[in-house]
Amino acid sequence: MGPGSVTSTLDRSAPVFKIVHAQFLAPGIKRFVIEAPRIARKQKPGQFVILRIYEQGERIPVTIESSDPERGTISIVVQAAGKTTNLLNSLETGDSILDVVGPLGKPSEIKNYGTVVVVGGGVGTAMAYPTASALKRAGNRAISIVGARNKELVILESEMRGVSDALLLTTDDGSYADKGFVTDKLRQLIENGTRIDLVVAVGPIVMMKAVSEMTRKEHIHTVVSLNPIMIDGTGMCGGCRVLIDGKSEFACVDGPEFDAHKVDFSVLVQRNTMYRDAEQRSMAEFQAKKNTQDHPEDGQACSVASGVRQGVQR
Ligand code: NAD
Ligand code: FES
Repeated sequence: MGPGSVTSTLDRSAPVFKIVHAQFLAPGIKRFVIEAPRIARKQKPGQFVILRIYEQGERIPVTIESSDPERGTISIVVQAAGKTTNLLNSLETGDSILDVVGPLGKPSEIKNYGTVVVVGGGVGTAMAYPTASALKRAGNRAISIVGARNKELVILESEMRGVSDALLLTTDDGSYADKGFVTDKLRQLIENGTRIDLVVAVGPIVMMKAVSEMTRKEHIHTVVSLNPIMIDGTGMCGGCRVLIDGKSEFACVDGPEFDAHKVDFSVLVQRNTMYRDAEQRSMAEFQAKKNTQDHPEDGQACSVASGVRQGVQR
């Protein structure tokens, strides 16, 4: 029995979104293709969805990597970081997700800027990809920079190569391509005198901040995609408040993309770490339950899958 039976404990009359394909791209990083025809028809690069796996579950924002309006599907990429994303990544082809709300957020501003550099850090590459693709189709010369901690964590390399005039790759440990951070490649481009009209950066906050500091000095227009905690995704709850040019804005409706040089990254870091203790406790409980059920010799003869179901019922 697959962990997909997550939904078997739920109200069967509730609308669910079927997973038509699920595949790990890298350890802990999984791509899901989900039936969501209305979202697939409307989705534009830069937008995201908010998912809920079960009735009392946490709502999590996830980037839309691509959509296929003809098949009525969207594709998302999820990195297992906490309890909910671990639960999500245990779902398989044929399973379902309770709620998928979207497309949310303003689309990326796509036009012919000239030469654009799209920077994808780690799993942020999944959000950088549709934007890079749209910017290339709009006639830009597209240079992409993709960075990951190591070889195993490089994702969407061929996809990014396919939409880029040049793809520059780095790994932090040098296990693949060039050793270093994405910012090393950006610095090289700037130092080589490459004309850059726009930089788009998506990835961990520390990376987006480093890119922003580098381009500010060069007066290069830079856009970052922010990923604060989100709840309703409608601009009502205030959960995703970010400080832009000294004013409060909501990433879910005013973003997620903002002018990097106006973003207060320290507020973003502070708000994103506010629930870290609770998240760690929840993850530890989930892991402990999973471990117990992974070892039936401890007297708990049940599968990880049913462990997931028990987690859901709590
Ligand atoms: P990671 O920590 O593995 O970093 C990815 C790459 O970012 C590194 O390989 C490096 O090239 C670069 N980087 C990291 N630290 C840097 C620094 N100090 N200076 C310059 N470059 C640096 O990333 P991960 O584990 O894949 O995590 C991805 C993060 O991106 C998560 O925190 C996730 O929440 C976030 N994310 C953001 C968005 C978004 O919309 N902004 C979308 C998806 C994921
Ligand atoms: Fe509630 Fe943005 S998620 S205001």
